[in-house]
Amino acid sequence: MTSHKIDWRFALLLGVLLIGISGVAEAAIPASSKAVKEEGGKYFDAKGDPTYKIGPDGKVDWYTFSGFRRYNGTCDVCHGPDGAGSSFGPDLTNSLKSLSYSDFQAIVSGGKQDVNTAQTLVMPAFGTNKNVMCYLDDIYIYLRARSDGALGRGRPQSHEEKSKDATDFENSCMGP
Ligand code: HEC
Repeated sequence: MTSHKIDWRFALLLGVLLIGISGVAEAAIPASSKAVKEEGGKYFDAKGDPTYKIGPDGKVDWYTFSGFRRYNGTCDVCHGPDGAGSSFGPDLTNSLKSLSYSDFQAIVSGGKQDVNTAQTLVMPAFGTNKNVMCYLDDIYIYLRARSDGALGRGRPQSHEEKSKDATDFENSCMGP
């Protein structure tokens, strides 16, 4: 009889835990980031801003993967691995919670400097750097997924194929 009682409590505890876990996972991803449109492998939210698409198996869209690669090697130097910040630059997973897509574009192309801080930290302007500007949406999409908690740290395990649109855009943007 006693074992019966324990089973009951255990099942109840497990149920509560599962509801808790799924609730947290859902709450972490804002509805505003939901992809409602797709064009050549690129996803857009209801406002028409670029966003990520991540399958239940963790497979990411091409742009999220590309953004991960472009972020690393240029932005990680100051903003730390996975956008999480360092002593040289702020945590972008936090910044993107309040920055709009156009704010992001303006800051990355034009740079930013906070003259009021005791230590002058400068965000360089990347407006003439094609290796950044041709992949600005990729980097934004990647950081948006990181900021929403939809993508964990490190290299995404699997990704969608690169579309012809992505290749065509890259070729025309980067030039001969
Ligand atoms: C040389 C170091 C450095 C590099 C490289 C760098 N950043 Fe920054 N970034 C900074 C600093 C410092 C700030 C904070 C500037 C301020 O507060 O005025 C900043 C601020 C920003 C902000 C605004 C954050 C906020 O909360 O307002 C964004 C967005 C950003 N960087 C994106 C990028 C991206 C994307 C890249 C790569 C293409 C990049 N940064 C590369 C140093 C850097």
